[in-house]
This record gives sequence, structure tokens and C-alpha cells, in this order.
Amino acid sequence: MDIGLVLNTLRDPAGVPFYPIVFQALYILTWALHIAFVLLALGGIPLALIGNAKKSIDENWKKLGAHMTQVAKISVSMLIVLGVAPLLFTQVIYDANWYVTNTLSGLWVVAFIYILILAYSLWYWFYYANKGNSSFTWLIGSVSFVAFIAAGVLMHAFANESIQPDQWMNWYAPNGVIDTSGTVLHIDILRLAFMVSLSAPVVGIFLLNYTDYTSKCDGYTAEYLAFVKSLGKKIAIVGLLISAVLFAAWVLTLHMLFHPLVLAIVVFVLILLFMVIKESNSYITTLVLVVTALLISTLREVIRMNIMSKYGYSIYDYPMNIDWPTVIMFLSTFVCVGFTGVGFMLTLAWRAGRTKGLYTADGTVTKLANATVGITIIWALVFIAWGLVVVFKNTL
Ligand code: HEM
Repeated sequence: MDIGLVLNTLRDPAGVPFYPIVFQALYILTWALHIAFVLLALGGIPLALIGNAKKSIDENWKKLGAHMTQVAKISVSMLIVLGVAPLLFTQVIYDANWYVTNTLSGLWVVAFIYILILAYSLWYWFYYANKGNSSFTWLIGSVSFVAFIAAGVLMHAFANESIQPDQWMNWYAPNGVIDTSGTVLHIDILRLAFMVSLSAPVVGIFLLNYTDYTSKCDGYTAEYLAFVKSLGKKIAIVGLLISAVLFAAWVLTLHMLFHPLVLAIVVFVLILLFMVIKESNSYITTLVLVVTALLISTLREVIRMNIMSKYGYSIYDYPMNIDWPTVIMFLSTFVCVGFTGVGFMLTLAWRAGRTKGLYTADGTVTKLANATVGITIIWALVFIAWGLVVVFKNTL
């Protein structure tokens, strides 16, 4: 079978609506955001579980556990929302890969949705039950954690299978016998272990941010803050070391140990280690972590491009059919609605969290709130009017 021919034939004949490199850049950016919240959720859940187990004997763990339960809850909603974006971008430029995987592992793709629903519902149950004293609560939280991990394993398997076009035929028809069960599942244990291990440095650095932020709020004793800071520092250091070892082992299997991007990631991990040990400003440490996440996201894409180029598949020569209305609508939504809305919510949360008692919005937040509402109304009107014009133009 000529894999390159198959891949190129499976491309969408309508082409892509804009320059492929833009979709690629957006994929790298949005996947980094997706995985950041995945890692915060996966790192926060164990802390919430420990907090629950120790809440009757340790006040610090009780408080931290309750807060991490919330952090994990919100992170899951963020990771789901932010997972949609890379999913859309990957479907635009690597459509054949994504759809073949979804066919081969169809049963797991459907199972993924139910596993995620189960995991998230159980986490809400844990969240409410955590307020009581039942020992059953811990069990609910643990099952939820296992289900979240299972969802991650599935996501990883889909990504892993999608970059092995040379195996697709073997998986579809092993020994020449077609298998339509949709139960194909192949993982790369080192890649998966590395990805999941990153939850330790992410949650460790998050705890350092948490300490810095709450140190200016009421209701947090110096003893509690010192406890969280020391815990965060330990988790971040041990986590960075474990992730570094797994990373080296993974890239070794890919023969990429001395690739410039890999070396850049190693340098950033060392910088992170240094900053955590030296207790540098935690917000700047987080910025360095964001750059590291973007580099890892870029590396995933470089690995995929290298594999695909072996088969003569390059996203850069995907047929293009620029569709300006779509591009304008997308970019203006992204920039105007997205930036204003997110800016408003972040500013509001930041300030409200530091206010004692009832928070009343001040000048900047009020302006941002009004701008967000105004822009969203204009956006909805333009969206509906534009849609109606297109529908009538095509049907009348
Ligand atoms: C608890 C739920 C989830 C977890 C733990 C999780 C975890 C992961 C992990 C570990 C990867 C990296 C796989 C790898 O490179 O080996 C990944 C990739 C990805 N995830 Fe998620 N994910 C979750 C939910 C979702 C959801 C709900 C969506 C979409 C709405 C999504 C969209 C994606 C996409 C598009 C990729 C990249 C796939 C590719 O490169 O081909 N994820 N996820």
C-alpha cells in the first residue's frame, strides 16, 4: 500500500480555509493550554484526596484539600473547553490521521465520553460529600481519579495511533482479517508516563502561586502558607527530576536526544529547577513553565511532521481555498470576544479573591464587564445576521 498516496487522497478536496501554518501554530498554542489544565487537574486531585483523608487530624491539609478540590473541578471544565480547540485544528490539517484513529478505536472514542462524564460527576459528588465526614467520600474521589487517568490514557492512545500510518493496515486487518470492533488501543508507555508526570511540577508551581496570591488575602495564617510553600517546592523539585528522566528516556527511543528543541526543553527544565530551589518570584516561574509547555507542544508537532514527511505528506502543500468570511469571523471572535471576556473574568476573579467580604466592582472591572457584554451582543447579532444572509443567498 502506498501510504503517502492514501494520506494525500484522504485530504479534504475543498482544501483548508486559510494558510495551514496558522492552524498549526494555533494547534501548538491551544494544545499547550489544554495540557496545562489537564496537568493541574491530575496533580490537584491527589492533593484533594490526601486532604480528605487527613482532614480530621490536620487543619492545614483540611484547608488545602478543600481548595484543591475546587481547583481540580474548575481545571476539568477548562481542559474540556480548551481541548476542543486543538481537536478542531488537528482535524483541519491532519484530518486523515484523526479520522482513521477514530475508526480504528471507535469503541474507545465513545467510551472516552462516558468515562469523562463518570469521572466529572464523581468529582462533583466528592466535592459535595467532602463537606461531611463519611469515609465513603474518599472512595468516590479515588474512583473519579482513576477514571480521569483512564480518559488521559485514551487521549494519549488516539494521539499515538494517529502518528503511525504504517501500522493502520495491520490494525485494521490483522493477518488479512478485517477487524471492525473499534477496540484497537496502542500506547507508548514512555510518552504517556512523561506527559502524566508533568502534573507534579505543574501542581507544585501552582502551589507556589497559590501561596503568593493568598499571602495578600485574609484568613491565611503564616504557618499554613509556610506549609503549602514547602509542599509545593518539594513536589515541584521531585516532579521536575522525574519528568526530566522520563523525557530523556522517551526522546532516546525517538533518537532525538540531541535535537535542538529537546536541548531547549532540557535547558528550560534546568532553569525551572533553579528558580524553584531559589524560591524566585512564582509568577515569573509560571511564565517560564508556560514557555516550556509551548516547547513541548512544538516538539509533539515536530515529531508528527517528521513522521508524516516520510510518507510525502506535508500540511504546507494542503490545497488551500481561502474563505475570508470564515477567517474574519473566526479571528474577530478569537481576539475581540475571547480576549475581552477572558480579561474580564481573570481581572474579576483576581480582585474578588483578595477582597474581604462582599466585592464591589471598581472602574476597570466595570468597564471590562460593559465591554464584554457589548461585544458579545454585537458578536451574536453579526453571527445571526451573517448566517441568515448566507442561508437566504444559497436557498433563494
Ligand atoms: C480528563 C480528560 C482528559 C485528559 C486527562 C487528557 C489528556 C491528554 C493527554 C495526556 C494528551 C497528550 C497525548 C499524547 O501526546 O501522547 C492529550 C491530547 C489531546 N487532548 Fe486531551 N485529555 C482529556 C480530555 C480531552 C478532551 C475532552 C478533549 C477535547 C474536547 C481533548 C482533546 C485533546 C487533543 C485534541 C489532543 C491532541 C491529540 C493529537 O495530538 O492528535 N482532551 N490529552
